[in-house]
Amino acid sequence: MSTPTPDEHHSPPVTSTGLGVDVGGTGIKVGKVDLGSGELIGERLIRDTPQPATPDAVAETIRQMVEEFGWEGPVGVALPSVIHEGVARIAHNIDSSWIGCDVVELFDRHLPGRSVVMLNDADAAGLTEVHYGAGEGVEGLVILLTFGTGIGSALLLNGRLIPNTEFGHLHVEDIAGRGFDEAEHLASAAVRARDGLSFQDWAPHVSNVLRSIEDLLWPRAFVLGGGVSEAAADWFPLLENRTPVRPAVRLNDAGIIGAALFAAGHAGLLDLGDALSPGGY
Ligand code: BGC
Repeated sequence: MSTPTPDEHHSPPVTSTGLGVDVGGTGIKVGKVDLGSGELIGERLIRDTPQPATPDAVAETIRQMVEEFGWEGPVGVALPSVIHEGVARIAHNIDSSWIGCDVVELFDRHLPGRSVVMLNDADAAGLTEVHYGAGEGVEGLVILLTFGTGIGSALLLNGRLIPNTEFGHLHVEDIAGRGFDEAEHLASAAVRARDGLSFQDWAPHVSNVLRSIEDLLWPRAFVLGGGVSEAAADWFPLLENRTPVRPAVRLNDAGIIGAALFAAGHAGLLDLGDALSPGGY
């Protein structure tokens, strides 16, 4: 069996526009996406995440926002949770009522008759980077990590997404000698902000997390995303792990773009090639 060439990772789209939603702890972002270029078309819409951010409250806000766009096509929704066989399974940085929520049934009620699919937010960002960004054309194993409130992860093998990895919850030994803790409790962007860490002080924690992951999985490249990658030039040179690191290209819009791409692929309007594992999400 031959290894796919970079060009075989994705085929040209047969539909040109998609709609993606990115649900975060404080805001819900919706944008129309040019699926050929992976660029947003026009302005994205941002609303406060309803509090409490229960599934029904979030789905209702999404319905309103989709209507504001006057959008009739498939909708992709990125959420910081494992979406396993159509059910949200965890809730570390979102309302705990998401745990066990049947997201197919949820959107059947709020957006009846519409094709709505949900996926993990970092998986959405991973699809974006592999199609239009820093992971494009990289053969072998690529791991995308997003640094925000938590640490999200996407595992991509020759352009194919292996969904629902949760490396942000890997227990690693704190380099400051405070024992073992979850990676996202030691090295997320939120921890950097909370503790007022300079890049100089934060980068060793990130290196520590990267080393823990690379020792287990030996990826060819890490793609590091989240808003903090805008300042990649300030902290990438400080990293001391083995695997090459690349900044994500799409930063804050990667969730929207990947969700739109996933929805179009799921609805059969777009050939995503090998991007999605057989058997679905
Ligand atoms: C969640 C992941 C999510 C990540 C980034 C983690 O706490 O468990 O599902 O991808 O945060 O939002």
